[in-house]
Amino acid sequence: MCGIVGAVAQRNITPILIEGLKRLEYRGYDSCGVALHVDGHLARSRSTSRVADLETQIAETHLQGFTGIAHTRWATHGAPATRNAHPHFSPSEENARIALVHNGIIENHDELRAELTGLGYVFQSQTDTEVIAHLVDHMYSGDLFETVQLAVKRLHGAYAIAVFCREEPHRVVAARQGSPLIVGVGKGENFVASDAMALAGTTDQIIYLEEGDVVDLQLARYWIVDAEGRPAEREVKTVHAHTGAAELGPYRHYMQKEIFEQPRVVGDTLEGVTGIMPELFGDQAYRVFKEIDRVLILACGTSYYAGLTAKYWIESVAKVPVSVEIASEYRYRDSVPHPSTLVVTISQSGETADTLAALKHARSLGMQHTLTICNVATSAMVRECKLAYITRAGVEVGVASTKAFTTQLAALFLLTLTLAQVNGRLDDEQEANYLKEMRHLPVALSAVLALEPQIIAWAEDFARKENALFLGRGIHYPIALEGALKLKEISYIHAEAYPAGELKHGPLALVTEEMPVVTIAPNDALLEKLKSNRQEVRARGGQLYVFADVDSRITSSDGLHVIRLPEHYGLLSPILHVAALQLLAYHTALARGTDVDKPRNLAKSVTVE
Ligand code: M6R
Repeated sequence: MCGIVGAVAQRNITPILIEGLKRLEYRGYDSCGVALHVDGHLARSRSTSRVADLETQIAETHLQGFTGIAHTRWATHGAPATRNAHPHFSPSEENARIALVHNGIIENHDELRAELTGLGYVFQSQTDTEVIAHLVDHMYSGDLFETVQLAVKRLHGAYAIAVFCREEPHRVVAARQGSPLIVGVGKGENFVASDAMALAGTTDQIIYLEEGDVVDLQLARYWIVDAEGRPAEREVKTVHAHTGAAELGPYRHYMQKEIFEQPRVVGDTLEGVTGIMPELFGDQAYRVFKEIDRVLILACGTSYYAGLTAKYWIESVAKVPVSVEIASEYRYRDSVPHPSTLVVTISQSGETADTLAALKHARSLGMQHTLTICNVATSAMVRECKLAYITRAGVEVGVASTKAFTTQLAALFLLTLTLAQVNGRLDDEQEANYLKEMRHLPVALSAVLALEPQIIAWAEDFARKENALFLGRGIHYPIALEGALKLKEISYIHAEAYPAGELKHGPLALVTEEMPVVTIAPNDALLEKLKSNRQEVRARGGQLYVFADVDSRITSSDGLHVIRLPEHYGLLSPILHVAALQLLAYHTALARGTDVDKPRNLAKSVTVE
């Protein structure tokens, strides 16, 4: 999703802005741009191509400056086109006084556009952002900081903005409401960005702005006020944002690299877990876990499927009732709250707007026991929740989530065992056995990844199809959903997942030889039932691709393709099966030649509703 970088310094900041944009590329974007204060006027360069092309464009025009802002745009209002790319100027290109970038959505932009048009402003773009640029220009009083504080009061919706002005060459003003924004503190220079990673290598002194904050960045000082205009003290944290993720090593794509990192990062996520202890989730965890008698999980996309898997685990092992809700649905429906609920948010980024809003909604309904399973320790989600378990997937660059998912599952299994223990449902022997299995996960995952050559052979078949069906039962149903999501996200093949038992209640009508059916068939109590699904598909000429376990009795035959996973892994089997499905999606996309790491229309971090 959109990314912002801004700087005020005493050196040419173009390389800092470009490097920052490159570091934000992983969030997904369709255009980008830079604006700088150059010898008493504002100049900009924008592109609908990659940041690398923008860099070349800037080098050719020798665009340099000490104060400026930059942006990667993910289109919401108006098509991906140069005229809609940020930074936006006001009042006009020829006479630019204000330059502004924005992340978020302004809900009252129509009304403001009409008002500003009436005042004589001529809009060059279809964006809601240009409205803010003209509003700031219209309200400009000679003091940009004061002006922005007043202007944002007119905005309804979510925003993070950074703005600078021709008349104040050593100043950038930024504000946030509903979209993340950080300040990077330097020596005689200051920065602003959407996340700390954008400033890695420039400064590690980071301030996380709070909702409603407006910040005035100058060379030797920064000044923050809160939503009421009161001076605000915000802690400066030392943040070692990872930059190593930028190294692809022997891999062709970040997604492939991240799939293969899973044995290590699952191990890292469980490192130091020598026993089941509520304190792993925070100091207050034991008391909170004692007080709750149900769990409500809120998440989106892949994180939601992690939540669905956890429901099976928590209900079967800890015997605590669990409901799992898609965050964007939960926040807008009437539900029946209960104060003794543990509200669990799951998020890779910790900045997903719908999940954050759902969390706030749950709290507003009186549910105060909150826990997040999150991959970014400094994210809004972690700051908003009482308890947290930080997964250690490291930076995930590929838009399609892989290692974040398996580390979420590892953390959720730990939560399952912890709730079971607090409820007296986990004896020492069970605890020891489960811990042993968890410690063995990295080895078991590596063995699954070694199946890559067999999976590549399947991917060649899938690459020629336009539809696919995924079936799973019990704990493998959410994994079927995740497998289908991975395939559609990066290969653009239409894929759907069903609980296997639902096949004859509708989707069977779709099955022909053109519709490959992927079945996750571990050799558990449900295997016999899956066998009848297989027959239903084969009888209609469908091609079946079965991920079975080592001791399954299914063998390949005409129209039936079987890959055996090396170990049968009981309750933890979803963590292994999903790795095989990730490889299938990856190699299918590779064979179709899509942009695996940056699939069309998708953003890594969905910070708008
Ligand atoms: O950062 P989050 O985990 O909150 O993100 C949630 C979803 O946007 C994310 O999982 C999305 O579905 C991924 N593209 C899946 O690969």
